[in-house]
Amino acid sequence: MSTFTMDTATSRATPTPVPGKRMTVPAIRSRKVAKVDGYTTAEPIVMLTAYTMRMAQLLDPHCDLLLVGDSLGQVIYGLPSTVPVTLDMMCNHGAAVVRGSWHALVAVDMPFGSYEGSLEQAFASAARVMKDSGCAAVKLEGGEAMAPTIEFLSKRGIPVIGHVGLTPQAVNQLGGYGARGKNPAEAERILADARAVADAGAFCMVIEGVMEELADDITAAVAVPTIGIGASARCDGQVLVTEDMLGLFERTPRFVKRYDDIASRVTAAAGMYASEVRARSFPTDEQTYRPKG
Ligand code: KIV
Repeated sequence: MSTFTMDTATSRATPTPVPGKRMTVPAIRSRKVAKVDGYTTAEPIVMLTAYTMRMAQLLDPHCDLLLVGDSLGQVIYGLPSTVPVTLDMMCNHGAAVVRGSWHALVAVDMPFGSYEGSLEQAFASAARVMKDSGCAAVKLEGGEAMAPTIEFLSKRGIPVIGHVGLTPQAVNQLGGYGARGKNPAEAERILADARAVADAGAFCMVIEGVMEELADDITAAVAVPTIGIGASARCDGQVLVTEDMLGLFERTPRFVKRYDDIASRVTAAAGMYASEVRARSFPTDEQTYRPKG
């Protein structure tokens, strides 16, 4: 499914038929069901990050959710952290990913500084992200402190994905990207964060970089799906940064499994191209325009 088709199922503007219905917020939310001693999901939720149209096209058929993560700060822009990422970046990459997908629900990260100031600031920023990109949901980092914001947005038509545990936008406060919840007091705080985020109306939440036992406790305690990154197989779904999973970078965190070694393949292809250009063996007749006949 590499041909982009806009999801116009509900639009009068263009009657282009769509190949299927896009995943919805209630559909994701309803994957979590009650069991005897907590909650579970029938089928794990598959989520990957995407920042560009073409990558979205390739990932979309395989994913329930595509996340336009603010990790694009490091992955695309070479920034030292997610802190300098702007709303403009998120809107532009969000729009590209929406244009390149038709099946997955597209969620866009709220960048640092665009939502923490006040409820009104959060609403204005999230509404802009949704209008400019066409995404169906936003994700924001934070636990109890952000619960009023999540409630404010959710009650005003903005579906929110929570993000607890290791919250990379707080790197300056945390002092690094190490796993969280290693001691009982911190684990208790993160569990309270997750409960607050779910109670405030988040339709699912990312749990990043926590001990397995804590991921298990959170997943059993909250009635919305948990999507783990570095948070064990106990979560209701998994997310990875796509470029990590593809092996684009030399260094990746321990929780990343590399499904390919794209960096080596790009290096080999670029090297071959360079030597053929230098040897004047590219282009050949096959790649050359000449008058016909
Ligand atoms: O920005 C991002 O890519 C994320 C994922 C790591 C969940 O938030």
